[in-house]
Formats: sequence, structure tokens, C-alpha cells
Amino acid sequence: RDTLPLSGKKVVVTAGGTVERIDPVRYITNDSSGKMGFAIAKAAHALGADVTLLAANTHLPMPAGVRVVHLESAQEMYEAALAEWSDTDILVKAAAVADYRPKEVSDRKIKKSGDTMTLELVKNIDILESLGKQKTKQLLIGFAAETNDLEKYAMDKLQRKNCDLLVANDVTREGAGFGTDTNLVNIYDKAGLVESLPLLAKDELGMRIMEIAAGRLPGVIQ
Ligand code: PMT
Repeated sequence: RDTLPLSGKKVVVTAGGTVERIDPVRYITNDSSGKMGFAIAKAAHALGADVTLLAANTHLPMPAGVRVVHLESAQEMYEAALAEWSDTDILVKAAAVADYRPKEVSDRKIKKSGDTMTLELVKNIDILESLGKQKTKQLLIGFAAETNDLEKYAMDKLQRKNCDLLVANDVTREGAGFGTDTNLVNIYDKAGLVESLPLLAKDELGMRIMEIAAGRLPGVIQ
């Protein structure tokens, strides 16, 4: 493994959808299966990296040779990413993080009462944006799940969150986005479009993303 492109490099990948608890048996989450993040982690391992996968609410087989940390909430994902951060070379945020969480988490199952019920939500930390502000040597790769104006929102996220690369999927397209075994993406950097890829198996796309990342590793100090 010593001669592979990512040997000696540490790659951290987040995958899945965060779980934001309401009470011990109920929560808010989203449709992310973790397939995209797992595919990236497998590709990074195949390219020789030391890989840590931060997985939220996934039910996929453990990828061989990859260290998997299971977690639930955005806050836990942030803390786990931060714990890995200082010696990380590449961090990929394929996870779908909940933007909001319930303001109160009940430690008992909430009982049925009135005809309506209001759940107050508060904003979660933006993990990618926060890590983007703490970059030293890390190559930071974000995702954008959009339903319209793909390029505009992707470039906005890339700049605002200080990413080096951004993988944008239009999740309304057939075979793209949440839960599928394939994805259809454009990849951007600060200068604009890097690659517009055809519909690919997530495993193939994971490899393409890691190859592009490996080619950009030196000299990414911000
Ligand atoms: O898991 P699969 O079923 O394979 O599906 C793959 C996927 C559709 C989940 C994946 O391809 C994808 O698009 N992941 C990002 C989903 C998402 O949350 O996109 P966003 O546009 O809301 O967020 C933009 C970026 O900021 C993402 O890298 C996200 O991880 C990050 N983010 C968002 C909110 C937040 N509070 N913290 C974050 O770090």
C-alpha cells in the first residue's frame, strides 16, 4: 500500500442522515442511506488512505479496512469530525445533516394530548462551514443536494463554506441523490466547473472524487 496515491494520507468521510431526537423513540431524519459516503470511503481505502467513516443512521455492510464511527446527531458528527481534524488530509462531507433539531429533547416518551402539537426547532451548527473556517492543510470537499439552480447554489455553498471541491447533485434527476445506487453530479472548485459527470454507480463516482482530490493534495494551505 506504500506506493498508492493516498498512502500515508488520512481521509475522513461523513455519511448518512443525522438523527435529531424528539424523545427516546422518535426523531427527525432524512432519506440519506449512506451509500455515497460509504463508496467514497471504500475508494479512499483502495487508493491507500487511512480512512475514518463517520456514519449516521446507516444500515450498510461495514467497508473492509475502514474505521467506522457510528453516531446520531449533527452535534455528535461535528464533535467527531473535530476530533479527527488536526491530522486529516481530506475531509468529505457526503452526509445529509439536519439543518434544525428539536429545541427540547424529552427524556420520556411524549404522551398524546391535544389535537395539534407544535415542535419548536432550533438551528444546528453547519459542520462544513465551521470546518471551512478552521482549515490549515485540509482539502475540504462538500456536497450540495439541490432541486433547482444547481450551479448557482453549488458555487454559493462552495464559497460560503470555504470548500476546495463541491459535488453537486440535482436530487430531482432520475438515478441521482438519496437512496439510489447511482448518482449524477457536477464537481466544482473555486474557479467553477471541474467536471460534469454522466450517471455513474456511486462506487465509480466515489473513486472519481477521490482521484480528483488526490491530484489536488499538495499546496492546499488557505
Ligand atoms: O446517502 P445516499 O442515500 O447515498 O445519498 C447521497 C446524498 C444525496 C445524501 C449525497 O449525495 C449528498 O448530496 N449529500 C449532502 C446532502 C446535504 O445535506 O446537502 P446540503 O446541500 O443540505 O448541504 C451542503 C453541504 O453542507 C453538505 O456537504 C452537508 O454535509 C453540509 N452541511 C449541511 C448542513 C449542516 N448543518 N452541516 C453541514 O455540514
